[in-house]
Amino acid sequence: MEIKNKIILAMDLLTIDGALEVGNSVINYLDTIKIGYPLALAEGLPSIGLVKDRFDCKIIADFKVADIPETNKKIADLTFKAGADAIIVHGFVGPDSVKACVDSAEEFGTEVFLLTEMSHPGASRFLQPAAEDIAVMGMEMGLKNYVAPSTKPDRLKKIREVVGKDSFIISPGVGVQGGDPNQTLEFADAIIVGRSIYSSEYPEEVVKSIVDSIKL
Ligand code: XMP
Repeated sequence: MEIKNKIILAMDLLTIDGALEVGNSVINYLDTIKIGYPLALAEGLPSIGLVKDRFDCKIIADFKVADIPETNKKIADLTFKAGADAIIVHGFVGPDSVKACVDSAEEFGTEVFLLTEMSHPGASRFLQPAAEDIAVMGMEMGLKNYVAPSTKPDRLKKIREVVGKDSFIISPGVGVQGGDPNQTLEFADAIIVGRSIYSSEYPEEVVKSIVDSIKL
């Protein structure tokens, strides 16, 4: 996936009006927006199409899909039908569950991002020990898109080693959670930034300063 300025905005606002306002002020600097449960549950699945149409941008649906294959397929189908260009899928549920989302993406001509390890401290207990194996599974399945944490550069580096240079890694945790844009981009292809941007009084200035600070 081509991502302008290597920045994905995590649009975790609770109103579509708020999301459109933030989008308006930053859309000149980015072309990919991540929509997760906060906005989708608050405003419904159509918020995906609404944001996509308003800004003519790509939407990554961060639904961290983690169910049995049959249910995963339904979730992915509905998400892509709503207009998402990609969906984030948990890897720990195993290859059959992931494949159900891949099958859906193939039908819709969209993409799957495989979540290997998460950015928050608690992820070290259960997910971290399995993360490299999840990445191996992704490679065995022929997946090219991965999610790995910017808050743990050593772990991000490890995941990159497993998936190789030709895979595409997006990395959340930059900003409020402590991840650094340039350090993250040593191993990732794009950073995901949420609160640092949308909670700011001046979202455009924040995005501009991140873009300026990134050695593209
Ligand atoms: P902030 O406000 O912390 O937002 O900049 C980060 C965004 O990314 C999501 N997030 C993750 N998504 N794997 C994911 O797939 C992760 O490890 C992860 N950590 C954070 C978070 O929900 C928010 O939208």
